[in-house]
Amino acid sequence: MAEKVKTVRGFRDLIGEEARKYRYVVDTARDILERNNFEEIILPTVEYTKLFARSIGEATDIVEKEMFTFQDKGGRDIALRPEGTAGVARAYIENKLYADGTYKKLYYEGSMFRHERPQKGRYREFHQIGAEVLGTSNPLADAEIIKIADDILKALKVDATIEINSLGCKKCRPKYREALLQYLKEHKEELCEDCQRRLERNPLRILDCKVEGCQLIAKNAPKITDYLCEECKTHHQKVKEYLKALGVEFVENPYLVRGLDYYSKTVFECVSEELGKTVIAGGRYDYLVEELGGPPTPALGFAAGVERLMLLVKELPKRPPLVLVIPFGGDREREEALKLAHRLREEGIRTELSYREGKIRKQFEFANKIGADYTIVVGENELKQGLFPLKNLHTREEIKLPFEEIVKVLKTQSG
Ligand code: HAM
Repeated sequence: MAEKVKTVRGFRDLIGEEARKYRYVVDTARDILERNNFEEIILPTVEYTKLFARSIGEATDIVEKEMFTFQDKGGRDIALRPEGTAGVARAYIENKLYADGTYKKLYYEGSMFRHERPQKGRYREFHQIGAEVLGTSNPLADAEIIKIADDILKALKVDATIEINSLGCKKCRPKYREALLQYLKEHKEELCEDCQRRLERNPLRILDCKVEGCQLIAKNAPKITDYLCEECKTHHQKVKEYLKALGVEFVENPYLVRGLDYYSKTVFECVSEELGKTVIAGGRYDYLVEELGGPPTPALGFAAGVERLMLLVKELPKRPPLVLVIPFGGDREREEALKLAHRLREEGIRTELSYREGKIRKQFEFANKIGADYTIVVGENELKQGLFPLKNLHTREEIKLPFEEIVKVLKTQSG
């Protein structure tokens, strides 16, 4: 036998119920975003590597170790996108989406790629549905973005705790960084190897380290919320007030920092205890567009991890009943069955036409195997009489009706 080729490590097939769950999660989120008047943006899967290095940050795990990068045939450095925000910011600038002077609300959906160690809920190709608002500094937008994340969780019946924090701005963050650095330096020897390395380049990331020793040190570190300038403090306060007004439950986590460098002011994560992972995350990035060569543009957004939400969705909406149309006889019966099956589909009824040949018993076995709820046999007698047996495979009941009557009965079932 020839050698079988397998999927690449960290990449997966989504088949059957998994694929349906994928669609359910994405469609549920998309409905909510559409209702909030977000517009879809379809982005390329690859970008120049420097876009991610400049936006996510050179000293982040994503850029340092997790990107799928390669050179194209012209020797240009290209990367499979590890996230969507950088691409949206690039598209916003390149297409001058700021030209009409209003803010823009965009959403996207698709594959992201990170070369991480695969485990449950962590893959090398995963999917995000994300939303970005570009061109407003209004804290109403922060509250609404978090509310949308909450609405997605509620619609999917997924339990997660919303944690929020503020990372300050260009004015107040350097002072905090200084205080944090000083504190961490005093504990340098107790930090893990990675964090010792991070100390000068990215001290905030140490607060997010999963190593127990580092977490203990992080617990007593200075809190950014004690260092916020007046403007950031007021902004943060407003966001919290609006969330309360909307009835969104959240907890404050002064050590929430996020793994990407572009954030300022509000950051948030929706953490699932069941999964032990963050399922939706985001925040403000008021400097990113400008840093990528665009006009000063305060912005914010979030991305939901589709696979992680799929792991927490317990129940899928039922599919409408399935009808199997069984041709029984010769060519004429096959042709009539073909037409009748299409007539049912025209009416929105989920219909399968049996391609199986052979005894009627085999046809009913096939009906059970594919999970049909009803069968209709189209044979010589049925065509002659104009009456067709509609059989309910659950109750075993059979009624004979003219075809258009069957359509009516099934339409009420398909709701
Ligand atoms: P992120 O926290 O890197 O943020 O990713 C967002 C979500 O993507 C995570 O909370 C998680 O659910 C999912 N995710 C990340 N990595 C993996 C993986 N390897 N396997 C499965 N799921 C994963 C961002 O990407 C930002 N762009 C979010 C954002 C948008 N901030 C502002 N706007």
